[in-house]
Amino acid sequence: MKWITARRRHPLAGYVVVILALALFGVGYAALAPTAEQAQAQTLAADAPSQENVDDVDIANGEDIFNQTCATCHNYDGSGTYDENGEILRGPDIRGVGAAAVNFQVSTGRMPSMDPDAQMPRKPMAMTEEELADLIAYYNAQIRTGGPDIPYDVPGEAPERSSFEDEASYEAALEEYENEYDSYLEGADDTQMGMQLYLTNCAHCHGWSGGGGALTDGRWAPEIHDATPRQIYEAMVSGPGAMPIFSDGAIEPEEKQELISYIKTLQAEPDAGGIFDLQRVGQVAEGLIAWVVGLALIIACAIWITAKQRAHD
Ligand code: HEC
Ligand code: HEC
Repeated sequence: MKWITARRRHPLAGYVVVILALALFGVGYAALAPTAEQAQAQTLAADAPSQENVDDVDIANGEDIFNQTCATCHNYDGSGTYDENGEILRGPDIRGVGAAAVNFQVSTGRMPSMDPDAQMPRKPMAMTEEELADLIAYYNAQIRTGGPDIPYDVPGEAPERSSFEDEASYEAALEEYENEYDSYLEGADDTQMGMQLYLTNCAHCHGWSGGGGALTDGRWAPEIHDATPRQIYEAMVSGPGAMPIFSDGAIEPEEKQELISYIKTLQAEPDAGGIFDLQRVGQVAEGLIAWVVGLALIIACAIWITAKQRAHD
């Protein structure tokens, strides 16, 4: 213990103690904050590959998947599970929500849900690309009564090496995907319009830089930095959870393209909106960070002043 006593007198010792204390405090806060885990789950990048390249879907397999992983909550015919008062028991009627909603929910890892009473965070997808294609084919053939289609003209996730047999065909698919992606985003020539649409329709929930924010009843609008263009489109046309539906009538497909391009600039330059863009830190309150930094400055000043005084004595 002697070495500590010796070092305590070192002129920098005070700073080290303060910095350590603040670091511990910050770690403790992050560990205790109820939303920390949820924030982390949201920032995990989801693997949701696109499906348009899957030619031969297996509807019977899709039926098995639906019956085994969805029917407990949404019923075998998709009509949902309700109590005698018409309240949702485990899952709502999904017959009329459309393939866009199913693709959004499963590709962002929200479905199959683990807890019917809680909002699901974004997670890695719980099934493969092929399985999702089978599931959607079954949904379209047997369950669906309406609702929007998957917007296949909007790019989804980039292809993955594991779904290709050789390097050459993977490279080709990747190049095709990148061209499609670039031309979709470049197709939006009016980014000013995209920004306006974002600020008027989305920013009050998702934050001006897309970092997300709290809503009422323990619900939250997630950060949107990991969503693919197609998932952004599908979120708008299906209105997941507490999010309203922005139909193609309300925001036209071209306007959605402008909006998605703007969101992509937010995703590419998460700091574009400000010097520190603290919203990127997730659910850790910006106020707390400001407070910790401010406190550190004040304490540093105090140490500096007293150190000066001691030097004069
Ligand atoms: C543990 C119960 C549960 C399981 C299992 C489950 N869901 Fe859900 N699902 C829900 C609940 C609850 C909601 C409503 C979520 C909300 O409003 O935030 C929901 C919402 C949805 C929606 C959105 C409906 C809308 O109005 O837009 C779709 C689509 C959906 N589920 C599809 C599926 C599919 C496909 C599966 C199987 C892969 C599945 N769900 C498995 C409980 C479940
Ligand atoms: C009333 C608040 C509200 C508004 C307004 C709103 N959203 Fe949302 N949004 C939500 C909520 C809540 C969720 C999560 C739903 C869930 O998981 O059940 C969400 C989810 C999303 C997601 C999925 C993010 C991910 O990575 O999984 C995207 C993308 C999205 N919204 C885009 C938009 C866009 C674009 C607009 C504007 C056109 C918009 N939202 C307007 C509340 C809102």
